[in-house]
Amino acid sequence: MERGRFITFEGGEGTGKSTQSRRLAGTLRNRGLDVVETREPGGSPAAELIRKIILSGAAEPLGAEAETMLFFAARDDHLNTVIRPALERGQWVVCDRFVDSTRAYQEHAGNVPAELIRSLERAVIGDTWPDLTVILDIDAQTGLTRARGETGNDDDRFERADVAYHERIRDAFRKIAQAEPDRCVLIDAASSPGKVAEAVWKAASKRIELTD
Ligand code: TYD
Repeated sequence: MERGRFITFEGGEGTGKSTQSRRLAGTLRNRGLDVVETREPGGSPAAELIRKIILSGAAEPLGAEAETMLFFAARDDHLNTVIRPALERGQWVVCDRFVDSTRAYQEHAGNVPAELIRSLERAVIGDTWPDLTVILDIDAQTGLTRARGETGNDDDRFERADVAYHERIRDAFRKIAQAEPDRCVLIDAASSPGKVAEAVWKAASKRIELTD
């Protein structure tokens, strides 16, 4: 049995990541492939528990480095119990967020030392790197407005701080795409979901040797 392929979706708020990963999984299924859809943080029962702890803010007092270790603890279980077994069975795995989110949020925006993250990557990911990472890119303000369904009042002090933060996340993802062009593809997420899905399919079918 040929090993399946591992595809991850990354991007900031309002990029349509979840919609696009679902659409790509559907397209792959229509081509007869067996696809497992999953997400991070979470994706396995133990990792979903860790997700609840992290997203509730309960881990914040531990500090950014320990929080990063929690993301990797969840990832370790997710890889061991879901992702690797699926790939070995020949299934394709489409994951909504993976390690590049840790690089963008904890390393670039949260100032967690790069060496800590590199060593956790070696220990936890090993050689199970995605075959393809789709990075959805959108202007931070547009993304925030989309995510909140608001008209976008950027006079507010907190709103501005939010935009600056999300601009850092966007820059981090763009840098990752630039640094790892063999693994990553940057897709403009500003157009309609249908157009974005077309661009994702075009990139995916080219990168992973699928024909239209
Ligand atoms: P989620 O509700 O899944 O957000 P989204 O719809 O944007 O994917 O929450 C995931 C949050 O966790 C999101 O803000 C990004 C963050 N995150 C990290 O900070 N580090 C990580 O390693 C991962 C996987 C997610």
